[in-house]
Amino acid sequence: MTFVIRRAAVTTVAALALLIGASAVTMPRADATTKKTTHVAMAGGAVSYDAAQATAGAKAYGANCASCHGEKLEGGVGPALSGATLNTLAKNTKLTVGDMFTFMSQQMPLNAPASLPKAQYAAIMAYVLKFNGYPASSKALTYAGATDSTVVMRSK
Ligand code: HEC
Repeated sequence: MTFVIRRAAVTTVAALALLIGASAVTMPRADATTKKTTHVAMAGGAVSYDAAQATAGAKAYGANCASCHGEKLEGGVGPALSGATLNTLAKNTKLTVGDMFTFMSQQMPLNAPASLPKAQYAAIMAYVLKFNGYPASSKALTYAGATDSTVVMRSK
């Protein structure tokens, strides 16, 4: 799927472009051509991450994402990554973990897309999952596993 750019985000992105001094801003969007089309089926539709990874992810999120998405994933310049806003988006776009992860790992942080180590993106996704009520397991989330996940994205 592709992320539809919501109107509300357009003005904030434009304002942000001024703030960060970008001369031309291309709207971030998931690139359908780079998204794998074959998905690895996950047993029981589960997505796994481990607790230590989520803790590391919380730190990385705080350093790289919270300034725009809020300390509590409540949103700010960027959209909320939790709660009712996420649930509405997820429902309207049939958002999967893989969709969200592909978008964040290729387009985020907005001012430096795809600039973080792969393990850090996976850890941030683990934190987002934990925050939204997905249970931890003993198996860490991998970059490939997150990219391929067809598990439905939702907030508790
Ligand atoms: C400089 C501000 C900024 C930073 C830093 C930033 N984002 Fe974003 N993010 C945005 C904006 C603005 C959008 C909306 C873009 C759009 O809709 O096309 C967005 C969209 C997203 C989306 C899509 C959500 C949706 O509802 O469409 C995800 C997921 C996301 N960001 C994750 C992250 C993660 C993870 C990080 C840290 C690694 C991060 N972002 C850092 C500004 C930021």
